[in-house]
Amino acid sequence: MPMENIFITFEGGEGAGKTTQIQMLHDYLSAQGLAVVAVRDPGGTAIAEQIRAMVKSNANADIYVRTEALLYLAARCEMVEKLIRPHLSAGRIVLCDRFADSTIAYQGFANGLEVEGLEYIGRFATGDLTPTLTFYLKISPQDGLLRKTAQQDLDRVENKGLGYHKKVEEGFEHLAKNNPQRIITIDATLPIDEIHQIIVNSTNRIF
Ligand code: TMP
Repeated sequence: MPMENIFITFEGGEGAGKTTQIQMLHDYLSAQGLAVVAVRDPGGTAIAEQIRAMVKSNANADIYVRTEALLYLAARCEMVEKLIRPHLSAGRIVLCDRFADSTIAYQGFANGLEVEGLEYIGRFATGDLTPTLTFYLKISPQDGLLRKTAQQDLDRVENKGLGYHKKVEEGFEHLAKNNPQRIITIDATLPIDEIHQIIVNSTNRIF
């Protein structure tokens, strides 16, 4: 596979440990002499970071679910156009903390928006960019939210309660079941180094 096509996403519920694993894979690939960048969705550009602050803020708890969905997609559109595609074209491997699967799990399964509609406007937002590989770090919503509570104050989404996060989990499970070639499910309660090794082994298979 040509290097310019390597786009790896990390998905999962709250507190799954994605950020740690992205950093570890980034460091591993860099140490192999590969050009690699890590980005987060929503975020990465000035506009997308403003959208991130907006959707995470507890002050916006009353946001209408369709407005929220469109904001996530707008942020993604900015990031794909201004960051991900240029990096991929330059031959860099791109690691992304969340991507389109999160919209299906959170806005589709948990908020109840039409999945087909989300997929359609999602493709419009990204120009149909699909990850080469996706790591789904699976943790029960109970454990994930406990981890988050221990680390920091909960944001607007984390504050939505267990029922909401169980539906998010259902969404990721559905996606993993229906995309077995792309999505690799990993038990996020395993030791950090063990998870890293699984991720490294799977990543090495695509080179
Ligand atoms: P996080 O990546 O730091 O967990 O923060 C992003 C939050 O936004 C997280 O609670 C999941 C949520 N989210 C959505 O609801 N839909 C999306 O499409 C994305 C990318 C994130």
